[in-house]
Amino acid sequence: MRYFTISLGERKIRVREGEKLLDALVSRGIWPGGDCGGRGICGRCRVRFLTASPPPTAAERHHLSQGELEGGWRLACQHRVEGDIDIYVPTFGESIGEKVEAVPAYTSTLRPAAVREVLEVPPRSREGQRSQLEELEAASGKALETSLPLLRELPAALRTGSRRITVIRVGGRVVSVRPGREKPALRGLAVDVGTSTLAAYLLDLETGEVMGKGAIANPQLPFGADVISRISFARQGKDALYRLREAVVGGVNHLAGKLASKARIDPQEIVHATVVGNPTMLHLLLGIDPSPIGESPFVPVWRTTLVLRAKEVGFKVHPEAVVHILPLVSGYIGADTVSCVLACNLHQEEKPCLLLDLGTNGEVVLGNRERILACSAAAGPAFEGGRISCGMPALEGAISHVEIDDEVRYRVNGGGTPRGICGSGLVDLVAGLIREGLLDRTGRFRRPGAHPLASRIVGSGKDMGFLVEEEIVLTQKDVRELQLAKAAIRAGVEILLSRFAIEPKEIEKVYLAGSFGTQMRPESLAMIGLLPEELLPRIRAVGNAAGTGARFALLDRMALEEAEHIANKVECVELSREKTFTEKFVEHMRWG
Ligand code: FES
Repeated sequence: MRYFTISLGERKIRVREGEKLLDALVSRGIWPGGDCGGRGICGRCRVRFLTASPPPTAAERHHLSQGELEGGWRLACQHRVEGDIDIYVPTFGESIGEKVEAVPAYTSTLRPAAVREVLEVPPRSREGQRSQLEELEAASGKALETSLPLLRELPAALRTGSRRITVIRVGGRVVSVRPGREKPALRGLAVDVGTSTLAAYLLDLETGEVMGKGAIANPQLPFGADVISRISFARQGKDALYRLREAVVGGVNHLAGKLASKARIDPQEIVHATVVGNPTMLHLLLGIDPSPIGESPFVPVWRTTLVLRAKEVGFKVHPEAVVHILPLVSGYIGADTVSCVLACNLHQEEKPCLLLDLGTNGEVVLGNRERILACSAAAGPAFEGGRISCGMPALEGAISHVEIDDEVRYRVNGGGTPRGICGSGLVDLVAGLIREGLLDRTGRFRRPGAHPLASRIVGSGKDMGFLVEEEIVLTQKDVRELQLAKAAIRAGVEILLSRFAIEPKEIEKVYLAGSFGTQMRPESLAMIGLLPEELLPRIRAVGNAAGTGARFALLDRMALEEAEHIANKVECVELSREKTFTEKFVEHMRWG
């Protein structure tokens, strides 16, 4: 197999011959944009060839001007790497970075499942027929599950260490055996596989310290913006499923490697990983055909916690590291929702609490220690900037806040030039346009002549839009996407309230999870009508609660058991079967 080099300024990437340029970039954390599955439809994965550019394809002639084509601009999804190339990716540099959010501290007792113990294995007696493994188990006082590579290490470890041995195990699963008394570090990796964003946390399992955190766009984005399009892509066959798996596993390894090198540790020190995500993302991570989720009766292939080894999953950490895939509830309610409940402790609350996880899927949970209801609202990816013409995940370069009066002011994650707009910025922008009368209650653009910003309303009819910044335009279609997302969530909230037989005023707290929740402004939510107004003062932004739950599961073995308990307790409400859903959905398509 031949390899070529892609040069991006100082950075060099080694790529297999024939690899799709877009896949090569995204799997290494460089996200040029695009959400059409690499089909040349969205025209957003733009890169510039600084060396000889390949002949343009029909899709490129459609999306790029003659001047752009002559200047070397191409669509990354349209070309394969057939030689060394030198390119410029406009979003490269600061496009992939740490998520702009604080990590909530872990304040409970540290009871990690990963432990290190020094065992004195008594001298062998001539009588009896105990194996070395049985002797080890007797010294440890518990049944141990080992593996072939570990069994191969055991005789030498016992011999060299004079029958004293250092064992690292996660629960009863042995990760390593070393001769003598040693103190190898215990590190953990918590992974949240979101449809749009992949987040990971590196933890010191002995102190609970977060040694690093990072997030990148999910490398599967070029295969589709939402779970349905990823399932359709996976259905194309084994090769497609393999590509999806490779992309996401590559993304996790990219993040793990980056976090380890920043923390100056060896990735082999990572002995335990916990993974959360929606059911489709977890199926794809494990290379399991997600088709059963996409067709009636919409069931996942498995539901309970999976306990795997890193080498099986493909994670480049300690090969024998234990990987817990947290449990799913149903085909659409996944380990990410279970993990959010765990992080917010909603399952222990006395009074009912509402939890909204507004990622690419919108999950709504309502419950307390007695009962938990959950639904997945077909909100689409608007709250994560998906399917929005100028949208992007809440990574660096995204406009996260917008203020509109006589002029437009905005804040960009990480500072610098905006590359697009994320969910919180989108909600702020739309709320501001409604307030200023530039959008009417039905979601149509208006051009009131006297308003100083009227000149920013461009185009006409269906093609109207609001010019935020050069090349960042909010279109009429974008506004519709947000209306659909908001109406689906609001209808879901109302249906869960009526199933729980309570009024909004009886809700104690509203947890808003996801990067959107961290950066959103309650007044903007009120303006678009995402939640009943009386709930707004009770909102608590909890950041990436799914990632937080995954961290808790690394630091407390009891949390792993609790996750299973939560998954069994959650009752799923299927919105499409609810008689009042359509009525409520249509009612909330209007703003306010
Ligand atoms: S045109 Fe390349 S990803 Fe859409």
